[in-house]
Amino acid sequence: MKITFKDAAKADAIAYLGFEGEAVPASAKSADEASNGVLAKAAEAARFEGKSGQVVEILAPAGSEASRVLLVGLGKEDKATDRTYENTGATLAKKLQTSGAKTLDIVGAASVDASARLALGARLASYRFDNYRTDKKDDKKPTLGEVAIVGGAVKDAEAAWVRLSATADGTELARDLMNEPPNVLQPETYAERIKELESLGLEVEILDEPAMQKLGMGSLLGVGQGSVKGSRLVVMKWNGAKDKKAAPLALVGKGVTFDTGGISLKPGASMEDMKGDMGGSAAVVGAMKSLATRKAKANVVGLVGLVENMPDGNAIRPGDILTTAAGKTVEVQNTDAEGRLVLVDVLWYAQEKHKPRAIIDLATLTGAIMIALGDEFAGVFSNNDELASQIESAGKAEGEITWRMPLSTTYDKQIDSQFADMRNMGGRLAGSATAAQFLQRFIENDTPWAHIDIAGVAWRSGKNRPMEAGWASGYGPRLLDRIVADNFED
Ligand code: BES
Ligand code: MN
Ligand code: ZN
Repeated sequence: MKITFKDAAKADAIAYLGFEGEAVPASAKSADEASNGVLAKAAEAARFEGKSGQVVEILAPAGSEASRVLLVGLGKEDKATDRTYENTGATLAKKLQTSGAKTLDIVGAASVDASARLALGARLASYRFDNYRTDKKDDKKPTLGEVAIVGGAVKDAEAAWVRLSATADGTELARDLMNEPPNVLQPETYAERIKELESLGLEVEILDEPAMQKLGMGSLLGVGQGSVKGSRLVVMKWNGAKDKKAAPLALVGKGVTFDTGGISLKPGASMEDMKGDMGGSAAVVGAMKSLATRKAKANVVGLVGLVENMPDGNAIRPGDILTTAAGKTVEVQNTDAEGRLVLVDVLWYAQEKHKPRAIIDLATLTGAIMIALGDEFAGVFSNNDELASQIESAGKAEGEITWRMPLSTTYDKQIDSQFADMRNMGGRLAGSATAAQFLQRFIENDTPWAHIDIAGVAWRSGKNRPMEAGWASGYGPRLLDRIVADNFED
């Protein structure tokens, strides 16, 4: 989807935006005059009032070169937010995606930010994942290829679009990685995909199994040992700060390319969704792409642990004791609690190698977080109030919202083990909090750290979400980019 900003409307489809209370959007006034009042008549006939979500489509209106004109309600002016504009841009792009229109102009954004948010909505709503369809009928193929935002301060809108466009790049990459089938995206091929980001100036390093063995990563490697695919740890470095030596922010992601549960095998229903169990890593990889694309003035290192959790003669068993790279031992009580086993070795490596100023990890870690928060909020567990509030604010600003959850030593007793330093599950109660507490045991010297459990939001229904196509949401890159932009740049 090509996005542009320009001064005058001239497209197959032209959308005029108006607030509630305008019988015809003010932005459509001259178009209405040119059409001898056809637009006003159509608006009246459709009982258009500018309410949020109202759209009147007029085909082939007299006096216009456009093949369709749309009158679009934004709702009450004092209630309009970035979300209003994103959803409006998204609704229009989706409506016209296969309509036959090739170009869409949107007229009537009230500000530079509104223009950029309209563009973001249109761009993200146009996302499709059709790579594996060979049977698409011509009339089901997208026609809309270009959306322009018309009017206002064009140069300023273009400037505001730079960061948002980079976040859209990251979001689309995260969605692509999520959507890929697990036979295609497995740890080895995934690592190669990440390597391609070097063309953006990222430094990418891939650790294979011998390299991880040398580092003693018995925990991550344990999870991968039931798979015929080799596990990988991929490190992406972006050193955009003036001081290239300044301690980086570390972003850590769970990248389980398929989670069968292992020997503690999951039930069959919906198991196919577990191709999305690399959602945390997709968020990190997408964010690194966004940061490099817009040349963020920050040092950020992304680390993702890529493994496949399979049942096999060589798989880990309940009862096995694994030794982590940090030296702590873990009794495997349930092989389906594998995400934390992967993460702790990556967290250790992040600290050992990169001495980060702060760490944020993302993971589709627990089903329990979906029960607690549903599919809107991600759960945040943090040892640092400042970092937690930075995450909350960034989430609100970008519409990838989070809710803070308790991190507390009171949960420690649930993960104590009779045979090892700890066990990898804490029972039915507070499943997300015991998982977070497990991770915290691997955070050294009170390094500011936050764990974001995205199991509820990484994939979800696209119903009533204009910017999403359904399933992979692409949650993460926009949140992470905003955290960096607001708190970690020169
Ligand atoms: N990948 C799952 C968590 C998950 C579940 C993500 C549903 C998205 C949707 C994770 O590896 C897992 O299986 N967790 C277990 C932990 C339990 C065995 C302690 C869970 O949540 O049931
Ligand atoms: Mn699992
Ligand atoms: Zn998992």
